Amino acid sequence: MAQQMWAGRSKKALNSRVNDFNSSISFDRRMYEVDIKGSIAHATMLGEAGIIEKSEAEKIVENLKIILADIESGALEIDMEAEDIHMFVEAVLTERIGETGKRLHTARSRNDQVALDIRMYLIGEIDNVLDLTKKLIAEIADKAGKNKDTVMPGYTHLQHAQPVTFAHYILAYAQMFMRDCERLSDVKKRTNVMPLGSCALAATTYPIDRHMVCELLGFDRVTENSMDGVSDRDFVIELASALSILMMHLSRFSEEVILWCSSEYAFAELDDAFSTGSSIMPQKKNPDIAELVRGKTGRVYGDLMTLLTMMKGLSLAYNKDMQEDKEAIFDALDNTEICIELFTSMLNTLTLNKDKMLESARHGFLNATDCADYLVRKGMAFRDAYKITGGLVALCIDKKTSLDELPLEDYKQFTPLFEEDVYESLDLVRCVNERKVYGGPAKESVERQIAGVEAFLNA
Ligand code: ARG
Repeated sequence: MAQQMWAGRSKKALNSRVNDFNSSISFDRRMYEVDIKGSIAHATMLGEAGIIEKSEAEKIVENLKIILADIESGALEIDMEAEDIHMFVEAVLTERIGETGKRLHTARSRNDQVALDIRMYLIGEIDNVLDLTKKLIAEIADKAGKNKDTVMPGYTHLQHAQPVTFAHYILAYAQMFMRDCERLSDVKKRTNVMPLGSCALAATTYPIDRHMVCELLGFDRVTENSMDGVSDRDFVIELASALSILMMHLSRFSEEVILWCSSEYAFAELDDAFSTGSSIMPQKKNPDIAELVRGKTGRVYGDLMTLLTMMKGLSLAYNKDMQEDKEAIFDALDNTEICIELFTSMLNTLTLNKDKMLESARHGFLNATDCADYLVRKGMAFRDAYKITGGLVALCIDKKTSLDELPLEDYKQFTPLFEEDVYESLDLVRCVNERKVYGGPAKESVERQIAGVEAFLNA
């Protein structure tokens, strides 16, 4: 076995099981591009600051670019025997340009290098998640626009409560996903800080220009303390937390889809391309995608727990435990991204059974509050109106009828305030559209919400 590049004081090659245990190349290989870009900026700065010869810096930069192109084209395969992506790139560079390649790691440690790489990588991923989430929000707004009149039951405790529209219902999810975007953008601010120059932990005696590297790489600012610079993983945890909350929203939405597609609800039907069958029951059409999204939510929470627990006992500064941050956050990202993407397509192809939704809204006295409000409009105190309506509901249950069909004589026995116009007040569409209050389910309020979503997406 070859000696490690870091084999300073050791006299022996690493035990091969230890070597495998220690290696992170199998998962940090995906950071090759940011690693090389970071090295290009570092080498450029070393040359400009006169820490290495300008001609040497140029040679390093030029060859790092070739290495990047070679990896991208497949001409250079990432060697799984390398310890990590940082060592791999440096080894290839040195192999290709000899002595000059060995100057790249001046005034740098893998500790600040990996901190830089993970920040750069996550910034790109945050943008990906934002794009995907915005597409989902656009899909919700589109479906809402087509369903401003689709009346359905609204629930509390999963019991029929008051009528709403499908548009209003799903626009609640648009609000959640817009908050997710805000959270992601906020995490991005604290990720967008440049740690290189912290070196191992105590910065360096070389006259490096950290602000130049910051500018070359397009970061907002540089880290303020070298020990914090190499040991901070708050941004990784914050991202896992934002992804967990996003997945929680997606999981709740999945649960709705699963319910709506059950034969008990039958409010919606999944497209064949987004549902699965059973190996034994030929009639089955199962909502596996929604169920997997719900299931993977737990996994993303697990990644968050992994990260929080990983960090809780670490004294300053870098500890190898921190290598574990990558698999956890990559897993959280990979799963969240595929879930958002597939959920969006599934929603796009979901068909609604509007008649069934309306029919369902006719049962369970969803207009009982409106009946009480009718009496309030006629001058009665709400608590008295509530009591009378409760009595009316009990009577309807006895007579196996609904408030809409109960004869006026029955109403009048409770109070003479009831007149023929009570039936208009009980009409479900009217019940929805009278709730014009800001944030309510009325058509005009829903239109305002859609305009708000569109403004968010165009901002
Ligand atoms: N592969 C390591 C990681 O992901 C890179 C940093 C190694 N630093 C060290 N001092 N061993 O954290």
